[in-house]
Amino acid sequence: MNHAASAPAPHVLSPHDPARNGPEPHLDVPLLPAPHGHSLRVPSPHPPRRGVFISFEGGDGAGKSTQMRMLRDHLVSERSVAEDLVLTTREPGGTPLGESIRELLLHGEHVEPRAEALLYAADRAHHIATVVRPHLARGGLVLGDRYLDSSVAYQGAGRELEPEEIAGLSLWAVDGLLPHRTILLDVPTTALDERRDTVARDRLEGAGRDFHEAVREEFLELARADPERYAVIDGTRPREEVHAQVLAAVSEVLSLFDPTFEPVPPPRHRDEQ
Ligand code: TYD
Repeated sequence: MNHAASAPAPHVLSPHDPARNGPEPHLDVPLLPAPHGHSLRVPSPHPPRRGVFISFEGGDGAGKSTQMRMLRDHLVSERSVAEDLVLTTREPGGTPLGESIRELLLHGEHVEPRAEALLYAADRAHHIATVVRPHLARGGLVLGDRYLDSSVAYQGAGRELEPEEIAGLSLWAVDGLLPHRTILLDVPTTALDERRDTVARDRLEGAGRDFHEAVREEFLELARADPERYAVIDGTRPREEVHAQVLAAVSEVLSLFDPTFEPVPPPRHRDEQ
């Protein structure tokens, strides 16, 4: 692993087509040259053509699940979005196959880094093809607890593999699909340590402080490289305040879903009031 905070920003995850809801681009980015003139090609990253896809990222214990649930409840109760139009899902998991892969990855024995990266990518490929894409195709809203940025951050930054390779692998697995918006709940590693249950840690949660610090840095770097897709929110704030920030961060993309949605202004921090 030779990744450092000063490494060039990963470009592979920036959407090729800035017209967020436009037609899917067909430009391919070569990943690996092959001996006989063929190459494994990675499709350009792009948001879905229909529906809205929002992902939540952050370290273990950053509050993603809570914030996803609060956003879903807000949409259903206060914005009258039909319950069956809002899909909340997670990776690894989200399908029966994915739940088995999750069990192997998080509670099984040691998995070699390349095998681990492939298992996360396999889970994702199946989840996106069988659950997420069909929901988006009917114009639905998908709230995802982790997506390919987690692979880049965890497998790329914390292990011996390169973030660019991991990004290419995952983009291939999902045929280039990127969320419209990614909420990064940023929490310092020391604060995450305190939040996590010290008894019931899974394999990755039990990894060392340096590993989690590298994961955090990689997430922040991904966010810096694509400020249009990412919203970085201070996850140490009280949860209602974080929720208000999440609402402001998704307000623009929600108008893709329903043009009658009123924009929500960004809230001010309590200590600024
Ligand atoms: P998560 O479901 O957020 O854990 P929990 O519900 O226990 O808080 O994520 C499970 C773990 O999987 C987490 O430690 C991060 C890891 N992970 C990866 O390493 N790579 C990936 O691509 C994904 C999606 C998750």
